[in-house]
Amino acid sequence: MIDHETLKTSTVISEFSDTIKTKIDDFLTDGIMTTSMSAPPAGYEVDRFAGRYALGKNLPAVANKAGFCFNRVGSGEVRVLGGACSEVLGGANLANLLNDGYELEVRAMEALKNAKPAEVLSVHTSAGVPQQMDHFLSSLAPHLPTTSDDWCVNLQAEGASAVHAAIDMGLQYKQGGADFNSAGARTRVGCGASSYHGPASTSPGGATPLGAQAKGLTHRARYPVPSPFCRRRGEDDDSFHERLLLEFNAYLDMYENEIGVILVEPQWGSSVAAMPWPPALLREYIKAAKARGMAVVADEIMCGLGRHGAEPAAGGTGCFLSECWDLQPDIVTFGKSIGGGAGHLLSGAVLLDGAAKFKEASRTAFQSHTYAAASARALANGASLLDSLESWRPSVRAIGAAVEPVLQELNEASNGAVLAHGQGALWGGMFTNADPAARTEANLKFKKRCVDQRVLPYFVPVGGFMITPRYDDDPDMLAAATKDMAQCALETVREMGWAPSALLPIESPPHAGAATSGGSSSCSSLLGRLNKDTLKGICKDLSLDVTGDEDAMASRILSKC
Ligand SMILES: Cc1ncc(COP(=O)(O)O)c(C=O)c1O
Repeated sequence: MIDHETLKTSTVISEFSDTIKTKIDDFLTDGIMTTSMSAPPAGYEVDRFAGRYALGKNLPAVANKAGFCFNRVGSGEVRVLGGACSEVLGGANLANLLNDGYELEVRAMEALKNAKPAEVLSVHTSAGVPQQMDHFLSSLAPHLPTTSDDWCVNLQAEGASAVHAAIDMGLQYKQGGADFNSAGARTRVGCGASSYHGPASTSPGGATPLGAQAKGLTHRARYPVPSPFCRRRGEDDDSFHERLLLEFNAYLDMYENEIGVILVEPQWGSSVAAMPWPPALLREYIKAAKARGMAVVADEIMCGLGRHGAEPAAGGTGCFLSECWDLQPDIVTFGKSIGGGAGHLLSGAVLLDGAAKFKEASRTAFQSHTYAAASARALANGASLLDSLESWRPSVRAIGAAVEPVLQELNEASNGAVLAHGQGALWGGMFTNADPAARTEANLKFKKRCVDQRVLPYFVPVGGFMITPRYDDDPDMLAAATKDMAQCALETVREMGWAPSALLPIESPPHAGAATSGGSSSCSSLLGRLNKDTLKGICKDLSLDVTGDEDAMASRILSKC
């Protein structure tokens, strides 16, 4: 039987540990940023740019790219094993993809210089749309995971906005006419226990630093997911999945009256290092949520656009995993490199059935911006990628074939201390110590080794890496760079010397919170490493008293575990 109180507490606790983990990662990142950055000039005034990393610690300017080798001002070349799905093609293939938009820009420049009417580069959403919209929509149509012709798409610039658009379209689709401001409104979004849908400031699923209820949408309790954190030692796949489905139904029972939308990532991004969901289990989750009147959003911003490399369904194109795995969500999102990966931003949320209802009721997504769907070049690039997408499947599979044996070898050689997985051009690996503090320490050592070897995977906050190559990266060079990175991971876990008993999956029947956080003892060891301000921040997040010394605050936080 599911203990509802346990479930409730546990899902909340997973957020606390996320907060704590990120703060620690921040402290530890300090060292690495200084080593790689401070000595030579970075090509710009680093103290003026408050970017992804803390002020003064942002990465150097990149002068040029040759394949996946990025040449950085002052610190030379690094082999970038994938910037979290931000690029799909390079070299001549990228030039080809960008060509229509480039020629448009050349024509527009000529006309502008001669003070003649110029083709549109961008249009404010209140004034019209670029002509390239027509081509984009017809290029998108064959890729949609639906047999219905009653679809519509909302377009945005970056992925986080597309996820927000997907959520609000889902609410309107399932609860058209409802008063979303009423006290009992079902507006909350159910996110998985491991979940990331964009920047931590505003995105559903991100736990820090504004708390899990980013933008007031995300439900504080997270649903259980088939990640190694939720697994118990000795549990086989079938019993693990059976238990999770029971727990998910208990979660739905408990929060049915609050949740209007469930978000899923069919193949995770950084939160579970590119691990694919078991398709049959995900189909069951989706069915259960839909049966309760919830809209299901499949966020394919990482895995879509054929990156997963899976076999298309009959008559499909293999663009989305939702199609390949017959997931049947209500809405699917795409983003990142659909804009071409050259900085022309585009993302979108597709309502797969029910557009007519929207039209009849004069509805659209609530989410909108000045430049949503405004860039002619982004639309032209997107159409060009979609038109050629199917021709890239063999290359995606060649990437998969190059990476897989290297990561398999890493799994074996690490004796379970690294768990690597993936498919197509989306792979990752996690350090498996159950204690987040141990994983964070390993992550730091791993980062340092990668800096020395001049390889840059995407370091995942949970501890480990993600690899998201371009579809046309050279498989041999990629395999060699992946080997160097895998060696860094292997040396790291060997140095850590973890006992097999310290590794996931965890031993005891949880308390799901322990499953996600590594247990209250690890919580306590984490808390012991935090300074007063950080502890204060966590207490505030949890609406706890912020008075007293570090011990007092830590024990208040722990009392919640
Ligand atoms: C699954 C998922 N959804 C959405 C986003 C947000 O995309 P963006 O960074 O373009 O806002 C990300 C970012 O990595 C992601 O991994």
